[in-house]
Amino acid sequence: ASVYPYFGAHQAGIVTPAQDRLHFAAFDVADALDREGLIGLLTEWTDAAARLSQGLEVAEGGAVGGSDYSPPTDTGEALGLPASGLTITFGFGPGLFTDESGADRFGLSARRPAMLEPLPRFQGDALVPEMSGGDLCIQACADDPQVAVHAIRNLSRIAFGRASLRWSQLGFGRTSSTSTTQATPRNLFGFKDGTANVKAEETAIVDDHVWVHASDEPAWLAGGSYLVARRIRMIIENWDRVQLGEQEMLVGRSKGEGAPLSGGTEFTEPDFDKTGATDAPLIDADAHVRLAHPTSNGGARMLRRGYNFVDGNDSLGRLDAGLFFLSFQRSPQQFIDVQTSLARDGLNEYLKHVGSAIFAVPGGVAEGEFVGQALF
Ligand code: HEM
Repeated sequence: ASVYPYFGAHQAGIVTPAQDRLHFAAFDVADALDREGLIGLLTEWTDAAARLSQGLEVAEGGAVGGSDYSPPTDTGEALGLPASGLTITFGFGPGLFTDESGADRFGLSARRPAMLEPLPRFQGDALVPEMSGGDLCIQACADDPQVAVHAIRNLSRIAFGRASLRWSQLGFGRTSSTSTTQATPRNLFGFKDGTANVKAEETAIVDDHVWVHASDEPAWLAGGSYLVARRIRMIIENWDRVQLGEQEMLVGRSKGEGAPLSGGTEFTEPDFDKTGATDAPLIDADAHVRLAHPTSNGGARMLRRGYNFVDGNDSLGRLDAGLFFLSFQRSPQQFIDVQTSLARDGLNEYLKHVGSAIFAVPGGVAEGEFVGQALF
């Protein structure tokens, strides 16, 4: 079982090989919270995250080692379970810097990254406010869902009275590989997802496209990244009635091997100019991989780290299922460019973006510091 260090140059949970399970939570800070209170919360969250990611209980005493006359410090459901590769990644939403009324109650507005704004409205967005936004976020990934849920539960408990859960999302079956050591998993459309993803081993590409540099504004975010979260509902009942050839045309890759329709095997670069017998390009003009490819987006890339979800069903008896898309990038513009180009994506007929959020993810934490300390 893996144990990843909590402290380091970057927060864990970004280039860490994507674990199998996710619990993601977005929080609103309480009206009464002030600057000292926020620092206190981040300090306690950091201490707790450092312990949890090592497979320890959230605090000394734990679930059963404390007094019989006080509630246990740890909720107990991870007792006996290993760390399971748990990583905990914190992010700061736009509302932390300036709230809806324009007030600057934490004294942070002058330090707000200029790009940290709610994402623009994209074509086809059907966003639900209750599944969008948030002042703070925590991404907990682990190979055991109980370990990820335990982390979010205990961190939410610590935040009691200071920040409350706004929305949260469970995910399974990672939809991206972030390391060349991993096999490519599949999304709920049945296609391999993550083939052309940025991989941790491609350090120059990660450096160029994922990490914020000291020379980027603002300097406090150096070593960090921007996290975009999109809850994308898949209309899978309709998708399942689409012919195989059409499904492959919409994606631009074969369903079995995941090879580009221009030929080759999974990791062959797509050839967008290659034409077939009819002189039409083998990869359709509106195919997802063409529109999402760096060559269609001024070279923009991103590290995708999403998960499948199935949250029961809706009142029409359709599965409430889809892709909880997560991506990390040096600038939100990379996501905005690709999502804008996906406006004419043929897959859109089977997709509905219902949740959206953006966070600045501070750089790594050194022992004795709290996450995001350089901001304060
Ligand atoms: C590639 C599916 C949403 C960006 C792919 C691939 C599949 C896929 C099957 C090909 C394999 C791979 O390289 O990973 C989906 C599905 C989506 C979705 C089912 C919605 C539920 C998005 C969104 C974005 C995005 C919202 C970003 C705005 C990309 C990128 C690539 C890609 C950048 C790699 C393109 C390349 O370099 O070849 N996607 N995707 N996808 N997707 Fe998506």
